[in-house]
Amino acid sequence: MFPENFLWGAASAAHQIEGGYLDDGKGPGVWDVKEQDKNTVRHGEHARIACDHYHRFQSDVALMKQIGLKSYRFSISWPRILPKGTGEINEKGLQFYSDLVDALLESNIEPIVTLYHWNTPYELDQLGGWKNPDSSDWFAAYTKVVVDCLSDRVKYWITFNEPQMFAGIESMMAMEKTGKEQGLKDMMDCCRNIFLAHGKAVSAIRGYAKQAARIGMAPTGSVFLPKDHSPKCIEDAKEKSFRMSPETFVFENSWWADPIYLGHFPDEADNVLGSALPAFSEAEWKELSQPLDFCGFNVYQAATIFPVPEHEYDEYAYQGSPRSAMGWNITPEVLYWAPRFMYERYHLPVLITENGTAGLDWVSLDGQVHDPQRIDYMARYLIELEKAIDEGIPVLGYQYWSVMDNFEWTSGYDCRFGLIHVDYRTLERTIKDSGFFYGDIIKTNGKILHK
Ligand code: BGC
Repeated sequence: MFPENFLWGAASAAHQIEGGYLDDGKGPGVWDVKEQDKNTVRHGEHARIACDHYHRFQSDVALMKQIGLKSYRFSISWPRILPKGTGEINEKGLQFYSDLVDALLESNIEPIVTLYHWNTPYELDQLGGWKNPDSSDWFAAYTKVVVDCLSDRVKYWITFNEPQMFAGIESMMAMEKTGKEQGLKDMMDCCRNIFLAHGKAVSAIRGYAKQAARIGMAPTGSVFLPKDHSPKCIEDAKEKSFRMSPETFVFENSWWADPIYLGHFPDEADNVLGSALPAFSEAEWKELSQPLDFCGFNVYQAATIFPVPEHEYDEYAYQGSPRSAMGWNITPEVLYWAPRFMYERYHLPVLITENGTAGLDWVSLDGQVHDPQRIDYMARYLIELEKAIDEGIPVLGYQYWSVMDNFEWTSGYDCRFGLIHVDYRTLERTIKDSGFFYGDIIKTNGKILHK
């Protein structure tokens, strides 16, 4: 059974939905600039308008209320608040988030704020971004501005979304240009500064929040499924899910989560990295691993062999196997094993910060959006999550990704993850069948899953 007060919600990220490109004094973010190169995003698309949520947040919150969401995870655009990344505050940008929080609370929707979902102010990127030794202080100062403005109303905070992706992919790509030695040094600088930034942001939230804060992170990483339920297979799958491999550790769970939750690098780190391993003083370790309130986790599918060899199936795919429009495998059991493994290793309540599926949904002749595959996906995955809860794993909530169709980074707008359909020509919204289904799940606290 899902617990009372379970945080049923949906998620989004600023750059993926807001639009309002340079409106009201916003500065450019790193993605705004990247997209100017027509080869970055499929079809040369960009997010300058995206869902235009910046101008439509009131009616978007009304749709969230209509669905029946109890919580909403969204991210703050750093360059909307600090156009240059540091220094001068853009009051209109702050006001937008303040108004959004008010609108959510008026609709009884709990705001969950992510401070960083890949939106580095361009000016700071030009100074080296996360490679710059000052970056953790920049982030702490930005965090304080947000906390000063919102913490009278916001209780839930997430520092980083998926360091695996923004630090991992970018450093791997950079390494191709700079060569392995320089690439590894840059990657380690980046990781070091992100760990410190996380710690300093937690200190800023704890230090300045106007009410008790609940803080976590939203990482992602490979979760392997046991081949059968024998203790040996379960142990093997868990071990593999936290193993630090020499080639792909920066995309993995333990590299990012062990330091933060356990206060040390994974056991294999010395062997894998030797003298390249970042050094932290005792005080730095203490700050970056200070206690958190929950263990957030973004999870879509069970681990695939990485990188997936072209023209081959991966571990969970077979000829004609169920897959989403992104090509991702449908593996519902991952929503049982991921929280279980995370809890067993880190001993914190789990918050599923993202889970969802992409379709090629469109508006039907009857004016509605019928997306039976998303309904089935949700039901299958949530039944597995409930199983974990019934076995005693504390799970605080579930954030469906995403509240509405949006800009899917380098994939542009083709793949639609939303509970709400967006027609990008008119920006008209339509709640999909899955949105109404999710509303029924929320209303019955999951009971409808067993009908
Ligand atoms: C990211 C989202 C993204 C989603 C689907 C997650 O990795 O946090 O920004 O849209 O997956 O790809």
